[in-house]
Amino acid sequence: MREGEGSEAREWALILGASSGTGAAIAEAVTRKPGLNVFGVHRGRYAEGAVQLEQRIRDAGGRGVLWQADASSPEAAEAGVAALREVAGPRSVKLFVHSIAGASVGRFLSEGEDRLHARRIRRTFDTMAHSFVFWVQALVNEDMLAPEARLLGLQNPLDETHLGNTGLISASKAALEMYVRYLAMELGPRGHRVNLLKFGTVMTPALKHVYSPGALARLEAAHARMNPAGRMGTVEDVARFVTVLAGEEAGWFNGATIDFTGGMTLRLLDLVLNP
Ligand SMILES: NC(=O)c1ccc[n+]([C@@H]2O[C@H](COP(=O)([O-])OP(=O)(O)OC[C@H]3O[C@@H](n4cnc5c(N)ncnc54)[C@H](OP(=O)(O)O)[C@@H]3O)[C@@H](O)[C@H]2O)c1
Repeated sequence: MREGEGSEAREWALILGASSGTGAAIAEAVTRKPGLNVFGVHRGRYAEGAVQLEQRIRDAGGRGVLWQADASSPEAAEAGVAALREVAGPRSVKLFVHSIAGASVGRFLSEGEDRLHARRIRRTFDTMAHSFVFWVQALVNEDMLAPEARLLGLQNPLDETHLGNTGLISASKAALEMYVRYLAMELGPRGHRVNLLKFGTVMTPALKHVYSPGALARLEAAHARMNPAGRMGTVEDVARFVTVLAGEEAGWFNGATIDFTGGMTLRLLDLVLNP
């Protein structure tokens, strides 16, 4: 197939946070299977990644449109969905994935620079949780969801076990989980499915912002001990599974938190008590 040939007939994936990490891997995977065009949103901090992604989507025979904006407000959602409607037309979005990583780490009671003060809390909730609702509202208002559309939030295992300075991330993900369940109930009768995909640590730029190179190496080694499979998961593992969730076979998942962690937290007690 020539580059982009037949891409007009394809349905679309809307991916928030498409220029890097998990979102970029999902964008590339769903272009190949089930064969979607991609409208990706990002703020431009990974400009090179965005250009490479557009190329990989074209190579796979799809159309990729990357739209640069801060996706965390209702106004951004309305403007983004209007731009998407221009290129894709109504009832064209088969898959919506919320893959934004924009949270503050720190401690609620810290006296230092890492204090989670009100502005950080509001910003994190806007970015990591509320924006999911804003974009779904805009998609529905503009009649953009294709028949039997799939909507997906992303979760980590920090709802099962605590990790020092990630309390605000976990709180915002808890809100996201509830948004997913309630939207599943509201959209279910219309034929759409809304789920939360929970997966363990995968190496992405978001992690590299948080950890030093030495800490990252320790992290990889710790995951090799923790995960029953003996290695850290990858964005490709996650992306491959999203292609399954976008398919007909996964149509009965709804309002679910789907555990794709590979058993990451099963051995924690064992590791602590029997080191
Ligand atoms: N990495 C993990 O181990 C892991 C594990 C489980 C779940 N998750 C979840 O997976 C999702 C993606 O994480 P990741 O690690 O793949 O992150 P990442 O590599 O840092 O990518 C984040 C993406 O979001 C974009 N972005 C961030 N803030 C934005 C904003 N306000 N508006 C528009 N775009 C924005 C970034 O581009 P710009 O900065 O240029 O905007 C980038 O494209 C997150 O929800 C995370 O909680 C990650």
